Amino acid sequence: MCGIVGYVGPEAAAPILLEGLAKLEYRGYDSAGIAVRDGEGDVTIVKAKGRLKVLAEKTDEGRAVRGNVGIGHTRWATHGEPSEINAHPHHSDANDVVGVHNGIIENYQELKEKLIRHGYTFYSQTDTEVLVKLVDYYYKKYKMGPIDALAKTMVRVRGSYALVCMFKDFPGEIFAARKDSPMIIGVTDGAAYIASDVPAILKYTRNVYYIGNLEMARLSEGKTEFYNLDGDQVKKELVEIKWDAEAAEKGGFEHFMMKEIHEQPKAIRDTIASVVRERTEGGDASDPEKPEKIRKYVDFSEIGLTPEDIAGVNGIVIVACGSAYHTGMVAQYVIEDLAGIPVRVELASEFRYRKILMAPGTLVVVISQSGETADTLEALRISKSLGAKTLAIVNVVGSSIAREADYVFYTMAGPEISVATTKAYSAQLIANYLLAIELAYVRGTISAEKMDAMLTEMQTLPGKIEEILKDKERIQWFAAKFSNIQDAFFIGRGIDYAIGLEGSLKMKEISYIHSEAYAAGELKHGTISLIESGTLVIGLQTQSSLFEKTLSNMVEVKSRGAYLMSLTTFGNYSVEDAAQFTVYVPKTDEHFAASLAVVPLQLLGYYLSVSRGLDVDNPRNLAKSVTVE
Ligand code: F6R
Repeated sequence: MCGIVGYVGPEAAAPILLEGLAKLEYRGYDSAGIAVRDGEGDVTIVKAKGRLKVLAEKTDEGRAVRGNVGIGHTRWATHGEPSEINAHPHHSDANDVVGVHNGIIENYQELKEKLIRHGYTFYSQTDTEVLVKLVDYYYKKYKMGPIDALAKTMVRVRGSYALVCMFKDFPGEIFAARKDSPMIIGVTDGAAYIASDVPAILKYTRNVYYIGNLEMARLSEGKTEFYNLDGDQVKKELVEIKWDAEAAEKGGFEHFMMKEIHEQPKAIRDTIASVVRERTEGGDASDPEKPEKIRKYVDFSEIGLTPEDIAGVNGIVIVACGSAYHTGMVAQYVIEDLAGIPVRVELASEFRYRKILMAPGTLVVVISQSGETADTLEALRISKSLGAKTLAIVNVVGSSIAREADYVFYTMAGPEISVATTKAYSAQLIANYLLAIELAYVRGTISAEKMDAMLTEMQTLPGKIEEILKDKERIQWFAAKFSNIQDAFFIGRGIDYAIGLEGSLKMKEISYIHSEAYAAGELKHGTISLIESGTLVIGLQTQSSLFEKTLSNMVEVKSRGAYLMSLTTFGNYSVEDAAQFTVYVPKTDEHFAASLAVVPLQLLGYYLSVSRGLDVDNPRNLAKSVTVE
C-alpha cells in the first residue's frame, strides 16, 4: 500500500505534495519522492529512502523544487527493496512520461521482457517502472494521446493500480488511471488535486470526485475530465466530504483497528495473488472427452524456494512471538495434516535461550509482521548458525528478518498501524496455508486436483469475511452486555485451540479483561476450579471431528455456572441447546477455519475495548514493534 498525491494549479507544487504525503504516510513509509514540472516543461525528480522527513529536508520543505504541476508518492515496498532507486516517481527515458503507482502489477515480469525486446532498459526492480515504460511505449508506438495510451496499458496489465502520470508534451496536465486501488480527485476554482485518500487534500478542498474502477482522469488548472476504457468522456458527481481530517485518515472508521479489520479481505486476496498461478494441464486434442484443465498452483519461484528445496525438507520448526506465534500454531496442525511433516512451534523468546537440537533437513520458518522483533530475529540467527535453511514470513519489506533469512515470503497486508494485529495475522495465516499446500503437493500427499480445489476455496475467504463483517453489530451488542466482566476463557481443541489463543490475546491486550485460552481437555486438570456463576466461556467449534468433544467440555463448565458463547459454523445449530449466545461463520475447508473464526473474536476484543472507553489503537504498556528482548 502506497500513498499518491498530485497537484496542478497556480501555487508552488512541491510544498503541497509534501504536505499531502505527510497525511498519507500511514499507507507506507519506507521511501518517498516527488516530480515537479516548471513553466518551461522541465521536470525535477527528487527521491529519498526512509521517512518523509528525509525528503522534506532534502528539498528544503519543497521550497528548493520549482514548478506548479507535480506528483508525489510515499512507498511501502512490494517489488524491490526500499531504496532511492526503487522509490517513485519512475520515468521513461528523457522523462517523456513520469509516473507514480499504488498497487501490484501481476504480469510485470512478462511486460518487462516485452519492453526489453523493444529496446527498453530498466534501472529499478519495481513493477511501476515497467508500468510507466509501457505507457511510454504505447504513447510513442501508436502516436496516441495520453488517455488512449493509458487505456491501452490498462487492457494489457493484470493487477491493481492507481497510476498518476505527467507527459512532457502536456506540461500543464496530470493524467490518472485506476483499477481496484483507491484514488480521489479534488477541485477548487483554479486548481486540481489527486490523492489516494481524502486527508491528503482536505486542507484545500472538501469537493471531490471518486474516480471509478477502470476509469481515467485528466486534470488541469481547476478542471477535471473523466474517461472510460473506450476513451469516451464520462460525467461524475461532485461529492462534499463532511468528515473531519482525523476521521478521514482512518477512512471513516473510528479507529485504525476497525479499519484494518475491514482490510483483511484485501490483505488475503493480495497475499494469495502474490504466489497462486494457473496452468493448463493434461487434455488430449483428439479426444473431446478429455479436455485440458486449467489448474491453480502455488509458485514460490520469486521466493526462491524450489520444489527440490521443498522435497528435501523433513522437519519444520516455526518460531515467532505473540499473534505470529498463534498463526504458527495453526500452521502446525495444517502442515502435519496435509503434508505429513513433523512441525514444532516455538516461542522465539524461549527458543533463543535453549540448547537447540537441529536435525539435518529442518526448515526453520520465522513469522513476523514487523520483521524487527528482537527475539524472532535472534532465533533466525541461531537457526542459521546451526545450519538450518530459514524461511521468513514477513510483512515489512526490507526489514532485518527479511534481509537475513534465506527465503522471504512477504505477506501483503500493507502497513498496520493499530498495535493489536489483525490484517497481518490474517495474511500470515494465508502464507502458512500456502506453504502447507506446496509442501503437501511436492511430497505427493495431495494431488494437483486437490491443490486446485483448496486454492479455489482459499480464494473464497475474503468474500466470507465480508459476510461476517456485515453482522458486526451483533458482536457489538454482546460486548456492551459483557463489558464489565473480570475474566473470560476460550476453549477448543486442535485448530480451535489455536484460534482461542488469538481470541484471548485480542481480548486482553485491548480491553484489559483477564482471559485465558485452554485446550478444552485440559480444563479439568486444574482450571475448571476458576469457573463460577456468570464466568464467560467461549467454545470454539469449527472442527467437525472435535465438535462433540468440545461441546461436552462446554456443558461441564455450564453446569458449574459458566455463561456459554459458541463460535461455530453455519449448520451446527444443535449447539444452541447448550450455548446461550452463538456466532456462526460460513463453512470452509476446515484447515482454513481460523481465517473466518478469528474475525468475530477481533470484533469482540475491539467492542469490549470501546465500551470500556479505552485507547483501542494504543493499549497501555505495548509497542507495535518489539525491538528489545
Ligand atoms: C498482538 C500483537 C503481537 C505481535 C508480536 C510479534 O496483537 O500484535 O503479539 O504479534 O509482538 O510481532 P511481529 O509479528 O512484528 O514479530
